[in-house]
Amino acid sequence: MSQCSDKAALDQWYPLYTEAEIPFGNSITRLLGSELTIAREKDGTVVVNAEGRGTPLPLLKRFGLVWVTLGEPAGGLFSLPEADEEDRRVVNCGAVTVRASGLRIIENFLDMAHFPFVHTDILGAEPHTEVAQYNVEIRRDVDEVWATNCQFFQPQAALSATGGIMTDYIYRVMTPFATLLYKTCPNAANRWDVICLFVQPLDPDRCVAHPVMFLIDDVSTTTELVHFQQLIFLQDRIILENQRPVLLPMEPRAEIPTRADASSIAYRRWLKEKGITYGTTAMAA
Ligand SMILES: [Fe+2]
Repeated sequence: MSQCSDKAALDQWYPLYTEAEIPFGNSITRLLGSELTIAREKDGTVVVNAEGRGTPLPLLKRFGLVWVTLGEPAGGLFSLPEADEEDRRVVNCGAVTVRASGLRIIENFLDMAHFPFVHTDILGAEPHTEVAQYNVEIRRDVDEVWATNCQFFQPQAALSATGGIMTDYIYRVMTPFATLLYKTCPNAANRWDVICLFVQPLDPDRCVAHPVMFLIDDVSTTTELVHFQQLIFLQDRIILENQRPVLLPMEPRAEIPTRADASSIAYRRWLKEKGITYGTTAMAA
């Protein structure tokens, strides 16, 4: 598979593993079409090398994950102050391999219209299928895509929810392959639950999703929370792996765009501005 040559994709941080999951000794993974060798010493030291390079990759640890870059990021990771709040549950939901473009996964994460049909009776249910108008903008000061004022009726918005509620959402896309949402927290009226989806693109058409949640929930067990998120994500995976084309088309959807597509349109425009072709249909051209 071809290696990525998009500077805007190379100059980002990507998650590889949770710290605890890295096997001792040497292991192999991929990132943007390059093979990586991860070496973990007995003392816990982790060194990551990429094929064809003489020096180890820059590495940082954040959100329980180990992140590396193949390029020259402008700085560290995006800001997420909620991650440092002491009463939050940090829930690493494991790594899921998906046979789809990593960009497709981000776009699907932004899409509320599929809730009643894919996550039936959990994140949505008929007849509540309408996506109300929301606001989308590319925030130039932070170079992120934001969708605000999003609302959706949900039968079971979170594991700790006891009945259907109108759920408020805010979406952020921080890098081409990293997104998160803030949503109504059933346990704290003035705070948001935070659900992140960090993607490790292996190749243009294959990636590993690393979902991480930062929740206000002192009732559920970690295992229950992980299973809830995995159930949701496996429902998405079926859809993602059957989407055609596998790569993300850069032109607006062929169908007549609806207002539910506003975040998708902004995301694709932002990727295009950055010159991202890796994982898109523009790559093959
Ligand atoms: Fe979904």
